[in-house]
Amino acid sequence: MNILRGGRLSNIKEDVARYTTSLNFDNYIFEADIFCNMAHVIMLYERGILKKEEAEKIIFGLKKILNNGINSLNLDPTLDDIHMVIESELIKLVGEIAKKMHTGKSRNDQVATDLRLKLREEILEICGLLIDMLRDILNIAKEHKETIMVGYTHLQHAQPITYAHLLLNYVSSIERDINRLLDTYKRVNLSPLGSGALATTGFNIDRERTKELLAFDALIENSIDAVSSRDFILETLSNLSILGTNLSKICEELIIFSTYEFGIIEIADEYSSTSSIMPQKKNPDVAEIARAKLCKINGNLITTLTILKALPNAYNRDLQEVTPNLWESIEIIKDTIKMVHGMLITLKINKERMEELAKSNYSTATELADTLVRELNIPFRTAHNIVGEAVKKSIEEGRDIKDVIKEILNKYNLKLDDKVIEKALDVHENVKVRDKIGGPSPKEVEKRILSFSKRLEEYNKIVNEKRNKISESKKKLLNYFE
Ligand code: ARG
Repeated sequence: MNILRGGRLSNIKEDVARYTTSLNFDNYIFEADIFCNMAHVIMLYERGILKKEEAEKIIFGLKKILNNGINSLNLDPTLDDIHMVIESELIKLVGEIAKKMHTGKSRNDQVATDLRLKLREEILEICGLLIDMLRDILNIAKEHKETIMVGYTHLQHAQPITYAHLLLNYVSSIERDINRLLDTYKRVNLSPLGSGALATTGFNIDRERTKELLAFDALIENSIDAVSSRDFILETLSNLSILGTNLSKICEELIIFSTYEFGIIEIADEYSSTSSIMPQKKNPDVAEIARAKLCKINGNLITTLTILKALPNAYNRDLQEVTPNLWESIEIIKDTIKMVHGMLITLKINKERMEELAKSNYSTATELADTLVRELNIPFRTAHNIVGEAVKKSIEEGRDIKDVIKEILNKYNLKLDDKVIEKALDVHENVKVRDKIGGPSPKEVEKRILSFSKRLEEYNKIVNEKRNKISESKKKLLNYFE
């Protein structure tokens, strides 16, 4: 017998059931739903709404369902969703008593709770993956503090930097992704449970107690908001879109820098593909797939915003269609972090080619102009002009800028020592003097590696503390009647 229908409604059509069910993606909240039910039942018992034997029996059944796993369940779409499937199974396991489990609770507060329980774990997992990746990137950076390369603006040679400095740029942006996710966590880890369908319940339930049992940090007080808001999902999706953008930019650079034209890096074979016709090919397919997959996260954000923007209060079934967007985005981001991490740590760096590019195409022209300012006490704008003229002449006549600059300076009755000019044009010197906070000088990079590493360990501590709280709460729920 279908426990949901049969009172008010006759049977649902099979194709309608398949169209409206959430069972295709409820696997994500299977475990969360069991723990949510456990907390609710324990609270009902503590409040005297359920007898001890009743609560004990239900908890026993729920544990059994958890241990057997979702695959042992009859995922019948006419039951709507995982909440009803679990309840039906519970009735089969422990009998009529199981029908008391839904006292003072609605699927509306239940699903909102489940989503938050699952999402908080996913957020911590993503943060963990990011921390692992950044740790490895910092270790690689340590080896490349003196590995000169050219930095680009407009994808044109700009100024010398080092490979370590470039890596710290990745770390710096992804650190903000970690912070954003941890900040969102505060608004995810709130308990809607006890809000019922939308107006709480007349039963003498204890919202604070279920909050505590499930290790939520606080309640969402207003019961309408609690069951109907999904801004915690929007916020997470926005974070994932931004993180995806940062990862995609890394992929883009891997693709460009590994071309023959740049030739400064080589992606490992295990992250490359070849061509079915061109035997020489080594293609950066993983980075390309990542660049494309990450687009779906942006799409999912827009889909979700659009679903939510015109909903009246409180629960509407539209909300069900929000969740697959969330889970898909999470899968994509976790897989992609692993791919980018893997590519970065197996990357081959061509130091000679990096330095060759850095030394060519006037990447030290800024330092030459700066040197004129310092040594000859002329305004920067004048120096900029003189060096610009020298670069132009050097290109036109195919001569070294070192020789050309002297001629141009002569023209303006200015004079500079050969040694001073050579120093200004030296890529290593260029990097060395750029030693301001966040600059590429090896000493400064060393300092930044240390401070990033320190902060990473702080994030790691925060993530582990949260993980521990969650697993403690699960243990408590499982052992409550032991
Ligand atoms: N499967 C539903 C969802 O994911 C659960 C809540 C159903 N509530 C309802 N009133 N039909 O949103």
